[in-house]
Amino acid sequence: MPDLSRELHQTLVSDVLVCPVCGGSLRISDNHQSLLCCGSRTHCFDGGGGGYLPLAPKHSGGGDAKEAVRYRTAFLSAGYYAPAAKALCDLVKRYLPNGKTVLDAGCGEGYYTNLIAADGYAVAGFDLSKFAVDAAAKAARRSRGDNPSQTLYAVGSVFELPVRDQCVDAVVNIFAPCAPTEYARVLKPHGILIVAGAGEDHLLGLKKVIYDDPYLNEGRRDLPVEGKEFTLLEKHTVSFEITVEDREKMEALFSMTPYYWRTSPGDHEKLKSCDRLQTPVTFDFYIYQKIQPERMSL
Ligand SMILES: C[S@@+](CC[C@H](N)C(=O)[O-])C[C@H]1O[C@@H](n2cnc3c(N)ncnc32)[C@H](O)[C@@H]1O
Ligand SMILES: [Zn+2]
Repeated sequence: MPDLSRELHQTLVSDVLVCPVCGGSLRISDNHQSLLCCGSRTHCFDGGGGGYLPLAPKHSGGGDAKEAVRYRTAFLSAGYYAPAAKALCDLVKRYLPNGKTVLDAGCGEGYYTNLIAADGYAVAGFDLSKFAVDAAAKAARRSRGDNPSQTLYAVGSVFELPVRDQCVDAVVNIFAPCAPTEYARVLKPHGILIVAGAGEDHLLGLKKVIYDDPYLNEGRRDLPVEGKEFTLLEKHTVSFEITVEDREKMEALFSMTPYYWRTSPGDHEKLKSCDRLQTPVTFDFYIYQKIQPERMSL
């Protein structure tokens, strides 16, 4: 297990994390290998040699498998989604002064998380997949070099975050399950929530290769209910074209979509015989502000 006092942003440990069992404060053990609960000696968390902390409730499942994480890492690190990442970082900068605290809910392998951290924010990334969190922590270590850690990664569920009430300035939620009530709980008053999902023609070029009659995306169904816990400040759409010529990257992109699991082997073959994939990539960003609790509707 890496040295947690170097691996984890110290203020995030003291001001954001709580024990997932009893809600007590957590501190790094004297040998820097585990997190200890100040409420009970039996609540002790270490990654058993990996670069992640297991803070998810046992009933919450496992998140993305190793293979899915490997595919997504290969695709994202090739830079195809860089314009979307830049748009997200610009939105964070527009709404949040430097140095503030961000929580990435469903952070995957930390592609967006580490870019936000590099812009000068303290970022806590949670994902149900231990493989994703492990990859995220390792990528953060590589990119920060000898500088102090700006991140903290843990295995955790977006529906039961091991996080104090009202402790973060912003939550970002990129193509991962959305849990508005939980995000409202952890956000400070007037905190910002940025949710990203697939725009209408997102990956239409990919769908055209596979399906005879591709449909347009309908948009996310799990967005916050307007006026309940959040108010929508703006919807910001970012659209650009990508060309993928590498077969493995095409397969990686396909594996990141929901169609991967429901496409027949025959239709999948069509992609395998495609030499050059050109497709629009469209991210819809929804930017919300937390409504003050006393003004929330009952
Ligand atoms: C499509 S990936 C997006 C990852 C990352 N945000 C990105 O855009 O690269 C969805 C992620 O949500 C995670 N996930 C699914 N259910 C979750 C939950 N209940 N809590 C936390 N993460 C979850 C998966 O393990 C996966 O890494
Ligand atoms: Zn505890």
